[in-house]
Amino acid sequence: MNLAHKLKDPVFKTISEVAHNEGLETYVVGGYVRDILLKRPSKDIDFVCVGSGIELAKAVKKSLGGQYPLSVFKNFGTAMIKTDDLELEFVGARKESYQRDSRKPIVENGTLEDDQNRRDFAINAMAISLNKDSYGELVDPFGGVEDLKEKLIKTPLDPKTTFSDDPLRMMRAIRFASQLKFDIDADTFQGIIDMKDRIKIISQERIIVELNKIILSDEPSYGFKLLFYCGLLKEVFPELVALQGVDSIEDKSHKDNFYHTLQVLDNISQNTDSLWLRWAAIMHDIAKPATKRFNKKVGWTFHGHEDKGARMTPGIFRRLKLPMGESMRYVQKLVKLHLRPIALVKDEITDSAVRRLLFEAGDDIDDLMMLCRADITSKNNNKVKRYLQNFDKVESRMVAVEEKDKVRNFQPVITGQMIMSTFGLKPGKTIGDIKEALKEAVLEGKIRNEFDQAHEYMLELGREHGLNVVKPLR
Ligand code: CTP
Repeated sequence: MNLAHKLKDPVFKTISEVAHNEGLETYVVGGYVRDILLKRPSKDIDFVCVGSGIELAKAVKKSLGGQYPLSVFKNFGTAMIKTDDLELEFVGARKESYQRDSRKPIVENGTLEDDQNRRDFAINAMAISLNKDSYGELVDPFGGVEDLKEKLIKTPLDPKTTFSDDPLRMMRAIRFASQLKFDIDADTFQGIIDMKDRIKIISQERIIVELNKIILSDEPSYGFKLLFYCGLLKEVFPELVALQGVDSIEDKSHKDNFYHTLQVLDNISQNTDSLWLRWAAIMHDIAKPATKRFNKKVGWTFHGHEDKGARMTPGIFRRLKLPMGESMRYVQKLVKLHLRPIALVKDEITDSAVRRLLFEAGDDIDDLMMLCRADITSKNNNKVKRYLQNFDKVESRMVAVEEKDKVRNFQPVITGQMIMSTFGLKPGKTIGDIKEALKEAVLEGKIRNEFDQAHEYMLELGREHGLNVVKPLR
């Protein structure tokens, strides 16, 4: 197969020219070749030459006029040139495993064939020649083209060899399957089952990159099911595996919270590409196993799983090496609040309950509602319809209350500073108490969040605390 017509960017001709002059056999290789055949445009291009990738890169830089920056990674024998819109990576063909992100320095140079042998999957081991006499010819020793047609992820060598070279490839197999909607070849999958323990030697930083890519695929449940069936999920995220299973006592059983969670994740993924909102879906019921109780009258309960789940979130994020700042707090907040909108469905709910939720959710209220809608996984269509209509009602109620009371981004009109100067107080507990009471009064609807009413109420609170006004605000 000749793919010269697919190498549209002039950079390929330039590199071919330079390689010829340098006497270096050179190929485009790996993900870029796969993506050409999948018609997925890509900006990262890997070049492999038989010889020094660094020397080739230096010569290419010169022939491109020298204006693009060249980074050399001597230890790994690689070099990168960043042009206006492409990242060109150069590497010498090698005999041992190809790991761009490993800390292992390269040891032995090899031929193109050696290099292809040590790549992760047949679909990632194809090369396109840039050599003058065979320009554009595809070199596909393991049937990568066939695998793309059959939508198959398969290791080029015995899976044991490929996975021992770099156990992260087990995660990568599932990540590619999930992103591309491919199957994993049966022997390759068996290889993962046999070698899942080896994932332990891989750094969590590399694992989480793959897990997040699975989460961001169109139907992440597929990737998670593969992770679960091969046993890798238990290694990397045991809390999620703990959700699996159904208990029955006296004919009363609960739903399988693992499959439910995956359904919620798929549901929300149809509406958002936000990684953290998808993480909130994954985490929303994470504390169900820890809070599960059986009660003769009502059957299975999971009381407080939303609070416990919020408390578990930082620990899980820390261990998984997910960021601990704003994103974690956002996920934690959604986990904590995920049952609240359902509680607002009842007719006799007061405005103050709506105000409290608006206040606590703030700008994340729409994301919370999206999570709640995704959380409806009943198979009974009538039920689903009814629940969704209930949420519509809650939402219009929220809009009305927010319009009236503006609590979503509630900022108190009376500040701590004002309280201190009015009553001549030093910083201390009393200020906090008064501020809290003012906030409560607004949320309860006792006063509106505007100066006159809040000021009047502050004076009243001052009297209750036995305080004298030393400097009136007006
Ligand atoms: N590779 C490998 N083993 C790894 C990582 C990478 O064999 N653990 C090889 C594969 O041939 C892969 C190439 O290096 O195609 C480039 O790796 P990378 O950029 O990580 O992946 P891509 O295949 O380009 O895919 P993506 O851009 O989606 O990550």
